[in-house]
Amino acid sequence: MLQQEWWRGAAIYQVYIRSFADGDGDGTGDLAGVRAKLPYLADLGIDAIWFNPWYPSPMDDGGYDVADYRDIEPAFGSLAEAEKLIEEAHNHDIKIIIDIVPNHCSDVHPWFAAALAAGPDSLERERFWFRRGRGEHGELPPNNWRSRFGGPAWTRVTEPDGTPGEWFLHLYSSRQPDLNWTNPEVHEEFEDILRFWFNRGVDGFRIDVADGLVKADGLPDVEDAEGGPVPYSDLDGVHEIYRTWRRIADGYPDKRVFVGEMWLPDPLRFAMYLRRDELHSAFNFDFLSCPWDAGRLREVITATLAAHAPVDAPATWVLSNHDVTRHVTRYGRADTSFSFADRQHLAPTDPVLGTRRARAAALLTMALPGGVYVYQGEELGLSEVEDLPDAVRQDPVFKRTAGADIGRDGCRVPLPWSGDAAPYGFSNNGTAPWLPQPAGWAAFTVEAQTDDPGSMLELYRRALRLRSANPALGDGRMTWLPDLPAGVLGFDRDLGFTCVVNLSPDPVELPAPDQVLLSSQPLEGSLLPPDTTVWLRT
Ligand code: NOJ
Repeated sequence: MLQQEWWRGAAIYQVYIRSFADGDGDGTGDLAGVRAKLPYLADLGIDAIWFNPWYPSPMDDGGYDVADYRDIEPAFGSLAEAEKLIEEAHNHDIKIIIDIVPNHCSDVHPWFAAALAAGPDSLERERFWFRRGRGEHGELPPNNWRSRFGGPAWTRVTEPDGTPGEWFLHLYSSRQPDLNWTNPEVHEEFEDILRFWFNRGVDGFRIDVADGLVKADGLPDVEDAEGGPVPYSDLDGVHEIYRTWRRIADGYPDKRVFVGEMWLPDPLRFAMYLRRDELHSAFNFDFLSCPWDAGRLREVITATLAAHAPVDAPATWVLSNHDVTRHVTRYGRADTSFSFADRQHLAPTDPVLGTRRARAAALLTMALPGGVYVYQGEELGLSEVEDLPDAVRQDPVFKRTAGADIGRDGCRVPLPWSGDAAPYGFSNNGTAPWLPQPAGWAAFTVEAQTDDPGSMLELYRRALRLRSANPALGDGRMTWLPDLPAGVLGFDRDLGFTCVVNLSPDPVELPAPDQVLLSSQPLEGSLLPPDTTVWLRT
């Protein structure tokens, strides 16, 4: 892999810091925990880590409510420790990508405090979206926008003189005021934040809600709530922001990169963010959301590659992250797709089937051309924890929908590292973690899975190592194999590598059974069993 273009085929491991490893024994994961586990990550065979937000935050939305973009959340560590971590990761040949949250900040960010104090028509309020309400006394929200976490996207403030006053916009929780990107001060601030972290050695940024920064002039009502365009997503003006950001990244001699988070319905609009003077890559949520179905997967893979080719951007392949139901659980259900509209909470799921398919999906994902993401715990085969007591749930989605949407806590339960009982080595001193772990996780610890040839962890280790050692994998092209039976996906990569996935209910004959590099289940002679992927040297 060209060092210069490392992101094009990288395997990027996502660390949700609160739940990864607790180094100081307070039940919350932290940078000390990550530093202690760097050898684990290096051994796993990944190229980069993406950290969810690590900034000081009241944690109303797990750190996506940032109070200070130039420091580290004290519960996680310090700026000096982050600098050490970046250096240590680099010593392991691991790149660092951090989250940047430009659409909104925390309500305790000094800018928002100043805006509240300064009152209507002040320059301080111009950094946000403050508006007078509709109705005779301004008692109604300024428009009909809904928060993505449920409820109205506007909250009314009490003015410094104690009267009910203006409303401010928040597309997420009411503790996450949206920033006003028509204000040049906001642009300057974020450009400076990029440089702040680039100067400290981070290799890239994952951009939260990358499509959302620009709002339509006049903040018009949403006309079509049913999946049509909305006046706060994917407006053309957003691209100019990323052109400026790209110039900043390109000003550094070694390659610094941007990964966009955009959930967009149109692959062509999506690809516009990946033009050569904008972002380097973006998460492929169409693949993540796709059911475990050969025809649908083939369509999504083909459409992904077709959308990325004209802009010469590498595709990415993602199965899980901190916002979605873990894929072992999804793949064990009757409906194997993912949708925010219905998480299918507690829908019956077969963990044996889900795990079998997750193994097959991992090998499919790692064989496709482009980059691949691994969300912490998927390498351990963790399921969604669906039975958390309501009292421990922290996700604002759960709170703002009064439990109608169960939220995302179930995929954020702290990792099991060792031992037979909670906290399974998450905190070395046995402190209870911030979310309770299930009783049955002893078999899922890193310790229990290490050296067990049938474990998920050893499958990921073998696959990631083969992937980085094999020049056919990562960035490049693929060609679908012709004439395969229904329900079977197969493709060649350049340089003699073939991947075949059997999603049909019956075993199928392998094209070259004597050249097996790796399979997600034992083969049956020359037959590829159902829900199994095989990598072949051809
Ligand atoms: C997307 C992040 O992945 C999610 O966790 C967060 O709640 C929203 N953006 C708002 O920042």
